[in-house]
Amino acid sequence: DPSLPVFSQEEVAKHSSLEAGIWVTFRGSVYDITEFVAMHPGGDKILLAAGGALEPFWALYAVHNQDHVLDILSGYKVGQL
Ligand code: HEM
Repeated sequence: DPSLPVFSQEEVAKHSSLEAGIWVTFRGSVYDITEFVAMHPGGDKILLAAGGALEPFWALYAVHNQDHVLDILSGYKVGQL
C-alpha cells in the first residue's frame, strides 16, 4: 500500500522492546508485531529479530515459509522501508 508511511532502518531499530514496540522488516515492508509476540508459536525467539530483518531468521526456521504465516504477518503492516 503506497499510502503507508516510509520508515528508515534507523527508525525501525528503535522499536526493539515491548515498551517502545517491536517492529521488524520483511521484503521492504515494516511490521509492528508487538501484539503478536505473546502469541508466537516459537515463543521468545521472535525477539531476536526485534528492530531488524526477519529474512536471516526465517532462512534458518523454514517453518515460516508458508502462506498462513505470511497472512499473519500482513495483518501487522505499518509502513515501508
Ligand atoms: C513457528 C510466526 C518470527 C522461530 C511459527 C509459527 C508461526 C510463526 C505462525 C507456526 C508455524 C506452523 O507451525 O505452521 C512468526 C511471525 C514472526 C516470527 C509472524 C515475525 C513477525 C520468528 C523468529 C524466529 C522464530 C524471528 C527465530 C529467531 C520460530 C520457531 C517456530 C516458529 C522456532 C517453531 C515452533 C514450534 O513448532 O515448536 N512462527 N514467527 N519465529 N517460529 Fe516464528
